[in-house]
Amino acid sequence: MNDGEQRSFGPLGRVLVIIPTYNEAENVVPIVRRVRAAVPDADVLVADDNSPDGTGKLADDLSAADPSVRVLHRKGKEGLGAAYLAGFRWGIDNGYDVLVEMDADGSHQPEELPRLLTALKSADLVLGSRWIPGGRVVNWPKSREFISRGGSTYSRLMLGVTIRDVTGGYRAFRKETLLGLGMDDVASAGYCFQVDLAWRAVKAGFHVVEVPITFVERERGDSKMSRTIVAEALLRVTAWGISSRTGRISGGKPAVAREGEADSDAEGDRDPDPQTGPHVGEPADGETGSALTAEAGRPSPS
Ligand code: GDD
Ligand code: MN
Repeated sequence: MNDGEQRSFGPLGRVLVIIPTYNEAENVVPIVRRVRAAVPDADVLVADDNSPDGTGKLADDLSAADPSVRVLHRKGKEGLGAAYLAGFRWGIDNGYDVLVEMDADGSHQPEELPRLLTALKSADLVLGSRWIPGGRVVNWPKSREFISRGGSTYSRLMLGVTIRDVTGGYRAFRKETLLGLGMDDVASAGYCFQVDLAWRAVKAGFHVVEVPITFVERERGDSKMSRTIVAEALLRVTAWGISSRTGRISGGKPAVAREGEADSDAEGDRDPDPQTGPHVGEPADGETGSALTAEAGRPSPS
């Protein structure tokens, strides 16, 4: 990060970095410290699913020493998606304007967050991307890279989105984007949560920008990736793809708006605020990443 990089994000408002944790006792203290050092104006919310290894207690100690660090104690392991949704709701209820997703294990470098936030000034959602020029992964086994690239490609083909890294989990949302994408009926528990939210944002007409990041594989603790998580992603993405093609509602999910057609399903709360809603068709800020805007029509505020 160069020294001239802005540290205050005045026009964006209050920023909350949400870090979901499950058994991250070796990682929670260093990651929170790095966030606080890299973006001193942002607050941190650790969303812990009652980790048996005592992560929640370590987070409480951090919180006791630093009022900018808060802890959301959840009753048990319910998946990364559920932890983020609870964190988003907490953040919105507590007056934050920007909600950031970041893993606890150091894969998402806090030092890159100022770049994501800078890009958010002209976007509704910023995705940290490994698979655009300038993005990369460090220390990832080939097998894992294959799953991740394959997952992104499959999702892009099934859903017809142009996002290169649609499964990534380093993201910055404006509050209005979360409120406009229909957060309340997201059922994805595992990593397909990321695909789900990105796709909803595109469908709702929000201006989505990818910014290159360097993803560093964790050095301590274990990944929570499992066969169940991969299976959930495969099943859900396939079902969404099919329902969007046939225009039918499947699995309780709304059908997708087709090109040029506003999304006219029953999910009234997805309509973005006319003041702050989607910016469609604006070119990306050339320095910060590539722009992706919805192919679907801009939803009309009701
Ligand atoms: N609260 C909570 N509950 N946190 C969880 C849970 C859960 O059930 N499962 C995982 N986490 C937390 C972990 O503690 C970590 O901070 C973060 O979510 C990511 O978990 P990892 O297990 O390290 O994920 P990963 O490295 O396999 O996957 C990353 O890359 C994927 C794309 O390749 C994540 O960023 C995923 O979101 C992303 O889809
Ligand atoms: Mn990880």
